[in-house]
Amino acid sequence: MSAPKKLYIKTYGCQMNVYDSERMAETLGGQGYVETKTPDDADMILLNTCHIREKAAEKVYSELGRFKGLKAEKPDLKIGVAGCVAQAEGEEIMRRQPLVDLVVGPQSYHRLPEMEAKAGAGEKVLDTDFPEEDKFEKLKRRPKAKRGPTAFLTVQEGCDKFCAFCVVPYTRGAEVSRPADRILREAEDLVERGVREITLLGQNVNAYHGAGPNGDMTLAQLIWELDKVDGLERIRFTTSHPNDMMDDLIEAHGTCGKLMPYLHLPVQAGSDKILKRMNRSHTAESYIRLIERIRAARPDILISGDFIVGFPEETEEDFQATLDLVEEVKYGTAYSFKYSTRPGTPAAERAQVDPKEADDRLQRLQALLTRQQREVQDSMVGRELGVLFEKKGRFPGQMVGKSDYLHAVHVADCDAEIGDLRRVRIVSSGANSLAGELIT
Ligand code: 5AD
Ligand code: SF4
Repeated sequence: MSAPKKLYIKTYGCQMNVYDSERMAETLGGQGYVETKTPDDADMILLNTCHIREKAAEKVYSELGRFKGLKAEKPDLKIGVAGCVAQAEGEEIMRRQPLVDLVVGPQSYHRLPEMEAKAGAGEKVLDTDFPEEDKFEKLKRRPKAKRGPTAFLTVQEGCDKFCAFCVVPYTRGAEVSRPADRILREAEDLVERGVREITLLGQNVNAYHGAGPNGDMTLAQLIWELDKVDGLERIRFTTSHPNDMMDDLIEAHGTCGKLMPYLHLPVQAGSDKILKRMNRSHTAESYIRLIERIRAARPDILISGDFIVGFPEETEEDFQATLDLVEEVKYGTAYSFKYSTRPGTPAAERAQVDPKEADDRLQRLQALLTRQQREVQDSMVGRELGVLFEKKGRFPGQMVGKSDYLHAVHVADCDAEIGDLRRVRIVSSGANSLAGELIT
């Protein structure tokens, strides 16, 4: 038997890309590939790219350029570009970088085996269609391979919101939800393979409306179905849009035991003028009222957010409104970015804020968010929390896991195994993690 072919996948960007890379690796596993951690001994290199940050495409071109030597040594090496840059750039990638054999958009991953075969025969292959068939059904899973205790599971893809700064509606396409029974089967399979916590993924996950036995289901209904899966201990979901935070989902946060008290709910900005120009279709006030309702259902919920500073026409006064909103909401964690233009999006045409001013605002916002994050983390000291252990720590006998609120927790002299969910008393709060001791 010939030695297995080796696949090197490099993943950029969001959790959905992490999930997609796993699925691509499993599918290509069916073609005799095993994964390798370095490009040096690979027979196929796949870059699973992200288009959300500035100069994303340029970075991919420079990364590809680095494989020139490898390809010269090994002419059979296949190089592929997947993900959102592949979708956005399409054929341009092959034109600019002749090293590339294969370009595959996020909606076509199930076609990888055929594409690999064609590339193997010396063809250049490109697929950036938005096909009708269900790619998730067609993507193969490696049978019963053991998994770590946490996993991502894509339930919804694409977005119809068209925020003025965002490429997602163009690269991932229109909003599509997977049918509930397939998600449940996949969840059961993950649990059989050792998974205890599932994070449901979607660009706009709370807009989920997949087919169920009695018509379309909401995300909350799907969560309640997952709640019944024996052996599954924790459910999370990300990322949500404020306008799709339905009553039943808010209620589930108060009543569903497996749904963790953590919610990533980006607001992006605190000024109504800017929110309007961002095409966010909510106001600062409606967002704050929403947070209040969520906290009424689950008082201890940790709120996480995304922010953009320096959006076109943002004045100092507008920026102050963002700071005021942050003060009011009190975030447990947050991601903040300086606005940068994405060609093809509506905001790209507008007058830009002075970059120095935007830098300064970003620093001020991050100082406030870091302070809040630290306060929320410190407030865990003395509490007894559930911790799902994920790996061994750096020191002998030490284990590391995640609390219900997604903080990393270190426990010394710990007899828990990887995959155990145990009660832990938090004793101290460090720079980026908590320390605790097992209660029993
Ligand atoms: N500039 C800066 N930040 C952006 N994001 C999306 N597009 C842009 C852009 N053009 C941020 C938003 C989004 C997060 C994933 O990335 O805050 O919620
Ligand atoms: Fe992009 Fe999210 Fe807005 Fe959709 S809701 S356009 S994914 S920022």
